Amino acid sequence: MSTPSQAQLFANASIGAIDVANRVAMAPLTRSRADMDGVHSELAVEYYRQRASAGLIISEATNISREGRGYAFTPGIYTAEQVAAWRRVTDAVHAAGGKIVCQLWHVGRMSHVSLQANGVAPVAPSAIQANEQVFLESEGFDRPSMPRALETAEIGRLIADYRHAAECAKDAGFDGVEVHAANCYLLEQFIRDSTNQRSDEYGGPVQNRSRFPIEVITAVAEVWGAERVGVRLSPITRAVGDTPLDSDPEGTYFYLAEQLGKLGLAYLHCVEGQTRGDNGAGDFDFKKLHAAFGGKYIANNSYDRQMAIDAVDNGHADMVAFGRPFISNPDLVERLRRSAPLAEADRNTFYGGGAGGYIDYPALG
Ligand SMILES: Cc1cc2nc3c(=O)[nH]c(=O)nc-3n(C[C@H](O)[C@H](O)[C@H](O)COP(=O)(O)O)c2cc1C
Repeated sequence: MSTPSQAQLFANASIGAIDVANRVAMAPLTRSRADMDGVHSELAVEYYRQRASAGLIISEATNISREGRGYAFTPGIYTAEQVAAWRRVTDAVHAAGGKIVCQLWHVGRMSHVSLQANGVAPVAPSAIQANEQVFLESEGFDRPSMPRALETAEIGRLIADYRHAAECAKDAGFDGVEVHAANCYLLEQFIRDSTNQRSDEYGGPVQNRSRFPIEVITAVAEVWGAERVGVRLSPITRAVGDTPLDSDPEGTYFYLAEQLGKLGLAYLHCVEGQTRGDNGAGDFDFKKLHAAFGGKYIANNSYDRQMAIDAVDNGHADMVAFGRPFISNPDLVERLRRSAPLAEADRNTFYGGGAGGYIDYPALG
């Protein structure tokens, strides 16, 4: 067991072209405190500034388009107002010595007609309704609406939306982007055979189901350079409801990781197990996934201090991302370094509301 001063968790590193001060990443955390135009307020500037001692902040999931939105009060990265608001966030993080990438999000079928322009159906690889919950502007949680299957000819438009969002993230001063291909949203709906029943070149065998995510990531890498693009995957996550897994998670995700490895990306970021559940790494060989990818690897899901120290020291991960602990411990890195107690996050203020439970968790005295 290493002492904190020896632990590689607290040493600097290069993740692609991004130099990080330590190996503790802040996991992406939706907090639903933007306005209904997807524009952040000054609260978000303070929230991210307080957490800038993370080696790398991965922003909350950020909508690439109006169509990509599935939850009320989530931020976007496709209009000038959204970019200007994010610019204040990235400036504050950089002034505090931190690094921040933007998580690019399209929810696919996890949306609701009330969140779509003109009340149209959300889009998905196939017209299969999710048995999940999305958060609406006025009626609280509801089941996502029945989606419509994307036409093959629309795929190019979707890729253009990702490209536009990637350009906006550059204008907003981020250090890079993370393509959200996890947690049963659009890209993962294409990857899994349970949610993709297409008969065109984007459905069927794993080579076809991986095609759209790879095309999106390639387009985003053209904007940023691959060494500033990461990808998040969650091979055995079921979202919060009963979203089915792929019929062959290891076969599917090992293939995908190998293809992603050829792109020279900054990192692969994995939710190991059921999100927020046990770290279920026993059910899926994440070491093999890392090996198939061959590049830098960020591990996440229910890590504690010792697990994180061990994961970096034994080469399982290059960084470890913490989610819930960062909500209630803005100075998480310092607390881990000192082995200080961690404050518990209040679930009632995870989503929505104002400053309470957002920017009022104190740092150590
Ligand atoms: C309030 C909350 C919001 C989250 N929002 C996102 C998100 O926007 N994007 C994402 O990929 N994962 C999201 N997650 C999942 C976390 O990034 C992370 O995978 C999960 O919390 C497990 O890590 P932890 O045990 O360190 O909290 C969210 C989790 C929580 C608790």
